Amino acid sequence: MYSILTRFLLLGLRPFSAVLASQSTAKIIASRDGTSIYADATGNPAKQSIVFVHGLALSGIVFDNFFANDRLRENYYLVRYDARGHGRSGKPSDAEAYASVHYAEDFLAVAHAFRLNKPVFVGWSLGSAIISDIVEHINPLPILGAVTFAGSPVLGPEILPKLISPSINDVLSAIFQDSNVTACMEGRIQFIDACFRDATQVPFDLKATYLGQTVVQPPTVALLSLQRTQDPTRLFAAGQAGTLRLQQIFGDADRIANNSAAVEFVKPHFNFLTVDTIPAGHAMFEDSPERTVDALTRFIRSLPRKR
Ligand SMILES: *[C@@H]1O[C@H](CO)[C@@H](O)[C@H](O)[C@H]1NC(C)=O
Ligand SMILES: *[C@@H]1O[C@H](CO)[C@@H](O)[C@H](O)[C@H]1NC(C)=O
Repeated sequence: MYSILTRFLLLGLRPFSAVLASQSTAKIIASRDGTSIYADATGNPAKQSIVFVHGLALSGIVFDNFFANDRLRENYYLVRYDARGHGRSGKPSDAEAYASVHYAEDFLAVAHAFRLNKPVFVGWSLGSAIISDIVEHINPLPILGAVTFAGSPVLGPEILPKLISPSINDVLSAIFQDSNVTACMEGRIQFIDACFRDATQVPFDLKATYLGQTVVQPPTVALLSLQRTQDPTRLFAAGQAGTLRLQQIFGDADRIANNSAAVEFVKPHFNFLTVDTIPAGHAMFEDSPERTVDALTRFIRSLPRKR
């Protein structure tokens, strides 16, 4: 029989890296304006880091299944955070708190808290637009490359109406309105169903997890989170100079975003643009995780190494 002390020593003998790799570290970080940002990390801290941000009305929890992928955990340091106004992060109610610069500050606060050196940024859907915030406000460029999962790296009147599938407009209006509770709840259910290629095949507990995230966000905050003004001048300049390489990954059965419109919009501005279409819906990392890992891994391996 081992004594308590022996057991303690045996635990202490586990290789340090194995201990680190098996842990997930959660932090609540104060962004520059004081808004609290929830973030956590998993995977191998010695490897290239990737920062993931979820889409509208959701939270980093959407990456639970994706972050459990062995190939990702072994080869990358996986960090995710809840965007302001979402999930476990602060939800200010004033419009000014959702200005572009604050999204850049949130990213920087997370990068500092986890001591990341030139992570790759991956945004899903609305989360993709943070790419423009980062490039506009942070100099020198703090990311090695940028990836959109079914989104555009910048929002605005030029792309938003084309990007959102007409069939989903009413659903979004329902999510944003705060006078009819029945309509608001129905909208959230329809929105979550529309994230998947075939919602009838998705386990109820997964849909319930997604749905639960939408309930912690007031409808008015949901609307504020996609109304910021962005200036893509620096984003497009970096794209043209080749200092920023972009990958767009999307599902061929996406019912929320018109991804062809996003690609068409971005193409003239990026010298290095990689487009990967995989058999999936809007949440391609749930519908086709292995194909998503394949595409992401190919892109990250193609990036010039850090200086
Ligand atoms: C609220 O929304 C529901 C579902 O869309 C609709 O059937 C109902 O008529 C609405 N109620 C009011 C008062 O507008
Ligand atoms: C998607 O966008 C493309 C390019 O703007 C457009 O040609 C196409 O008609 C759109 N598809 C739908 C279903 O709206």
